[in-house]
Amino acid sequence: MLAESIFEKEFSKETVFLDRNMLTPHFIPRELPFRQKQIEEISTILAQTIKGKKADNIFIYGKSGTGKTSVTKKVTQELIEFAGAKNIPVEVTYINCRNHSSKYRALIKIVKDFFPEENFLGFSASFIYEKVLEFAGKKKQLIVVLDEVDKIKDLDDLIYSLNRANDEIVNGSVSIIGISNNLVFKDRLEPRTKSSLCQHEMVFPPYNAKELSEIILQRSKKAFKENVVHESAISLSAAIAAQESGDARTALMLLLRAGEIADQRSLEHVTDQEVRRAKKKVEEEIILNMISTLPEQQQLVLLAISNLSLQKQGIKTLTGKTEEGTLFSGEVYKEYESIANQSKNGPVSTRWYREYVSELEMYGLIFTTNSGKGFKGQSTLIKLGFDAKKIKDAIEKEIVDEMA
Ligand SMILES: Nc1ncnc2c1ncn2[C@@H]1O[C@H](COP(=O)(O)OP(=O)(O)OP(=O)(O)O)[C@@H](O)[C@H]1O
Ligand SMILES: [Mg+2]
Repeated sequence: MLAESIFEKEFSKETVFLDRNMLTPHFIPRELPFRQKQIEEISTILAQTIKGKKADNIFIYGKSGTGKTSVTKKVTQELIEFAGAKNIPVEVTYINCRNHSSKYRALIKIVKDFFPEENFLGFSASFIYEKVLEFAGKKKQLIVVLDEVDKIKDLDDLIYSLNRANDEIVNGSVSIIGISNNLVFKDRLEPRTKSSLCQHEMVFPPYNAKELSEIILQRSKKAFKENVVHESAISLSAAIAAQESGDARTALMLLLRAGEIADQRSLEHVTDQEVRRAKKKVEEEIILNMISTLPEQQQLVLLAISNLSLQKQGIKTLTGKTEEGTLFSGEVYKEYESIANQSKNGPVSTRWYREYVSELEMYGLIFTTNSGKGFKGQSTLIKLGFDAKKIKDAIEKEIVDEMA
């Protein structure tokens, strides 16, 4: 008798899923409930391009998981389908700026989309820019989507160039959609960039628990086999995500991981117990993912905080009490300085350092307080919001990856 294949067990394993992919972040559903208003607003603006005119630039802002990417992709896809069917020359290029984080790289991505058979690496930025003009100049209305636009280092330059293209081409146009979940980044832009990028500004609000419930219920019907998921698992996933941030990605991830846990344990149903088990794992994944997308200098500040948290007991108040895990902002800066001195770019000034600290706090990675009573003088106190060892490992891995 033939030995049983090592894959047999995996192949015949029972699963609660019908189509697991429906719950993964890459999947774009056709229906996006609670975003009808945003979909209409963007469509109205972009519709100018099918009339042969330039569309206003749009800046979309909203917290993580509020549907910014999905809505933009859905609307631009439909626009392309519509224009294609009517032979109207509208083109869309989607750039995730996390992977194309400078003006040069973003421009390369644009021309590569439009001239896929050519290789542009090594050509000068002005040559690449001319290629963009050549393409748009053929009576084309171009829409450039800059997702996670805050990740572009020289964004002022990029926006300036893309806008200038409109003065240089006679028959075509270049419109920009910028997307970001970073609240403070806009204030760092030059006023000229800001006003041109934000011709139309839109905010995507967080979802509430009821909305999240409906969103994930719809998705779970396609993702899981019939009658597998308990209603309580849906409402708990929605409640957890609503409480933390109103983030649909978190809600979907909770359900996905809960399903995987059910499979691992050979359970036939996904209940709130599996969701509870999934919670810790999902929180960790989200935090580690966020860390991996931080700019290098902020990663180094966070690394300094993790190092000191691991090395020190905490700080003593005047009454002799130890505040565990709490650090003085000044000592963190010193540690950061010594780490950054070994990096390519060196440390930033204390002014920027303070900005980075407040940004890390905005992401919920750290907490800060003012020392107030119990300490000599005034100082900012910093405390990590998450396990120091895990953060340290994640950042060190990122930094090694970047150098490799
Ligand atoms: N209204 C909705 N209906 C169905 N699914 C949604 C809806 N909004 C978001 N989602 C789902 O939630 C996940 C996150 O959405 P999306 O990636 O669009 O968020 P985002 O606002 O771009 O977040 P980030 O700022 O982190 O990039 C995706 O899997 C998406 O399919
Ligand atoms: Mg997004």
